[in-house]
Amino acid sequence: IEILQPLSVSLPPTGLPTSKIVLKMDSVTSGYRPGNPVIRDLSFDVTGPERIAVTGRNGSGKTTLLSLVTGELMPWAGKVGVMTAFAMLDQKVSLLDPLTSIRDNFRRINPQADENTCRAALARFMFRADAALQAVSTLSGGQLLRAGLACVLGSVPPPLLILDEPTNHLDIDSISAVEAGLCAYDGALLVVSHDKAFLENIGITRRLELPAAGPAG
Ligand SMILES: Nc1ncnc2c1ncn2[C@@H]1O[C@H](COP(=O)(O)OP(=O)(O)O)[C@@H](O)[C@H]1O
Ligand SMILES: [Mg+2]
Repeated sequence: IEILQPLSVSLPPTGLPTSKIVLKMDSVTSGYRPGNPVIRDLSFDVTGPERIAVTGRNGSGKTTLLSLVTGELMPWAGKVGVMTAFAMLDQKVSLLDPLTSIRDNFRRINPQADENTCRAALARFMFRADAALQAVSTLSGGQLLRAGLACVLGSVPPPLLILDEPTNHLDIDSISAVEAGLCAYDGALLVVSHDKAFLENIGITRRLELPAAGPAG
């Protein structure tokens, strides 16, 4: 059993100016099947270190919206502009290679960081000494997300961080650890979540509610 100390993280600043346009979506329509758009005529901006919760019913297109921001999905009409660097942690934290260690993932994702920086960053997220050498495939859900945050935020945090339902299936201690990491992050945040306590604890400044999916046409 792992005993989690109350996590208090300090992170390097992103330097994101309050007036910098981070993301611009202009009348965006997109989806997967022609004639059946999931996102319809959506316009939406993020300026400076806003912390935005994306909500909406299952199937309303929250994950699809994130795919448009990351460029995984292209708009059929309209424009998506992402003006800063970003990192995305999806529901499986697929950014991490499961077959290698947390440490090796960190070094791959942060090639500019030396071993001392790597170990210090992982220690801040409670992966100390041998804990940093665990293979990602052996981690619990909470550890996996914490490792993802450590790798993405620990060295040079990006101005925009995107998260898809990060607290699903996590226990209270793991959620607290994620909250502490996100509270220490000073960039813009786009997070899909319905977890009220979590959204309150990470200081959400704005909500984007997607309309329920209607019939095509
Ligand atoms: N890769 C995909 N291929 C085809 N349809 C998809 C794909 N991903 C999602 N969809 C469909 O798009 C709609 C929105 O899905 P999604 O963005 O995952 O919603 P949410 O994240 O809000 O639950 C759903 O009807 C879903 O079935
Ligand atoms: Mg989803």
